Amino acid sequence: MELEQGYEPSDEKPSDVKIVRTKDELRALLDPLRGGRIGLVPTMGAFHEGHLTLLRAARRESETVVCSLFVNPTQFGQGEDLERYPSNEARDLELARAEGIDFLFAPSAEEMYPHGFETWVEPERLSLELEGVLRPTHFRGVATICIKLFNIVRPDAAYFGAKDAQQLAVIERTVRDLDLELEIRPVETVRDSDGLALSSRNAYLSPAERKVALTLPRALALGAEAARDGGDPVATTRSALEQEPGLKTQYVAVADYGGPRLLAAIQVGKTRLIDNIPLKGGAR
Ligand code: PAJ
Repeated sequence: MELEQGYEPSDEKPSDVKIVRTKDELRALLDPLRGGRIGLVPTMGAFHEGHLTLLRAARRESETVVCSLFVNPTQFGQGEDLERYPSNEARDLELARAEGIDFLFAPSAEEMYPHGFETWVEPERLSLELEGVLRPTHFRGVATICIKLFNIVRPDAAYFGAKDAQQLAVIERTVRDLDLELEIRPVETVRDSDGLALSSRNAYLSPAERKVALTLPRALALGAEAARDGGDPVATTRSALEQEPGLKTQYVAVADYGGPRLLAAIQVGKTRLIDNIPLKGGAR
């Protein structure tokens, strides 16, 4: 296992990534390790460099790293891509191993939502705007699963990507409102060399659709540039998107999610894509 500088393995630590299926087993494994800092990276799997960047940040800053891999059914709406969401647990396990992760928590849906489950965490305003207009139950599902994971793992810090800026804002709000004692660590968006933000859903795009999708980061960059020059970032982004007939614009907006960010969502064929960038002075 490659060790980051400053990372001191303790004797109790497993020497290899361990896959854990139940809450009880994970709690029992973590109990003797609570003297050291625990970092949690919640994911739905199908790892790409974005996920791996979160894992590396957690590895640098924690003695024990838990990565959860759970395609959370309650954050998908009807007619969304739950059934076809990409999954490759064996590959994810190998990648987690290569990053020196301690525990990969991959529970079943029944383990997380046993029969009779009926309690939800529902941020109000934040879960209803932008993504929430099109996906009205999405953030309720996200906030609920994240609070459950925080309660099971009880991490000192949890790592989230700014790629999902509204999700990050929802989690920060929930942690503050419910007085949870953990730090939320944001990680800036990781992009492909062509500028497209990495996403598990990029796997759905045909080569032609991928070309169209590149309009999204380019339009956002033009919008941010317009803002720097005193122009209107939303109008600029919107008109740049409208010049590409192969996509449908769902929203373009500026929101204060840990600083001002320019956000947009588009549909290319059957695939929804979201992206955002900080506006001047808005870098986290
Ligand atoms: P998932 O889409 O698998 O993403 C897991 C984490 O990786 C999230 O914090 C997300 O913001 C981050 N991430 C995704 N693409 C990224 C990129 N290109 N650069 C940086 N970070 C990126 O987001 C979820 O899963 C779920 O909603 C979850 C929080 C796990 C709750 O079910």
